[in-house]
Amino acid sequence: MSGAESLRVELGARAYDIHVGRGLLERAGELCAPLLAERRVFVVTDATVARLHAARLEAGFAAAGVATHRIELPPGESTKTWDELGRLLDRLLDLRPERRSLVVALGGGVVGDIAGLAASLLLRGIDFVQAPTTLLAQVDSAVGGKTAVDARQGKNLVGAFHQPRLVLCDLDALATLPGRELLAGYAEVAKYGLLGDAGFFAWCEGNAARLLAGDPAAQAHAVAESCRAKARIVGADEREAGQRALLNLGHTFAHAFETAAGYGDALLHGEAVGLGMCLAFDLSVELGLCPPADAARVRRHAAAVGLPTRPPQGGWDAGRLLALMAQDKKARGGLTFILARGIGDAFVAHDVPADAVRRILAAVLAA
Ligand code: NAD
Ligand code: GLY
Repeated sequence: MSGAESLRVELGARAYDIHVGRGLLERAGELCAPLLAERRVFVVTDATVARLHAARLEAGFAAAGVATHRIELPPGESTKTWDELGRLLDRLLDLRPERRSLVVALGGGVVGDIAGLAASLLLRGIDFVQAPTTLLAQVDSAVGGKTAVDARQGKNLVGAFHQPRLVLCDLDALATLPGRELLAGYAEVAKYGLLGDAGFFAWCEGNAARLLAGDPAAQAHAVAESCRAKARIVGADEREAGQRALLNLGHTFAHAFETAAGYGDALLHGEAVGLGMCLAFDLSVELGLCPPADAARVRRHAAAVGLPTRPPQGGWDAGRLLALMAQDKKARGGLTFILARGIGDAFVAHDVPADAVRRILAAVLAA
């Protein structure tokens, strides 16, 4: 495809393409045509994205003679609830879907996660396409088929694996993204370097400023490289029996902070991941597994780009954070973390001593 890069997630019968490029929303009808069994699609989006990007997508389908039915959700993490999922399913059912109907998720990770879960449940599972509009969704959440809503007890605790049939990463969408959201998404870009590719982390150190300033080439490279890394990992381990867990670097800390903060605006998911990655490296040093210089380099980079290296002010309770970490989805009785032997060399660690985690939390909460 001219001007766009196409990657493939190799999953046998569930394999699919990821297109990374400009103007892809305008071409959605043409690109989705092979997936369409009827001349209509259901577009699930949020109110902010609808205002900024739905017209381009809908024009793209109209150009291919495909009608769109748009469903708008409230923006933000607080939309990822069981109640909101029920309302979404109800609205989709009112449109009388058939087994071969197609849902298109247009938005960030929130829209992708809830629309994907709705698609997995509707009529016992219908197809969906991811059209991610945040950096975070383009480099992470739109690829790999994890769908979920949050529960009072923790993040993403109710969900399903349901792979999209296609992912359209339209880089033009990033132009309207607020700087704070771009930066939050950038944490997931740096994650790929930290977990398995020291060379890519070095590229991040050298190019993050350009990327965050909106440089098109830097953004295209970051999205394509991130999708390539994620596609490789998901292709090898779709259900997280092994290496896919490495994608959760920083997430045990991040999810605990996000849950304790109540999924509000105080700490965005990507910001929590940035903080969590610093803490995961600190914990690796604390356990004697990682050179202190590597943890310092991670923290230095986070600080240089403006990601939080400590949680925002506000009555954090270390005991509650620890309890939340113990019920993380990765946990098997004891505490499970993704730790690192160094930059680019992460691994899964079960039964991590709670005392060491307590010391890391005490240090960051006192800072
Ligand atoms: P989000 O979907 O809430 O989007 C962030 C904000 O940006 C929203 O207010 C949205 O309306 C707005 N927005 C989206 N696109 C825009 C654009 N182009 N221009 C202007 N504004 C825009 O958040 P997110 O950071 O994209 O995703 C976070 C979610 O993703 C979390 O719920 C997290 O759990 C989930 N996630 C899932 C996976 C997975 O594998 N399924 C992986 C990582 C994260
Ligand atoms: N973001 C973690 C995963 O997709 O596995």
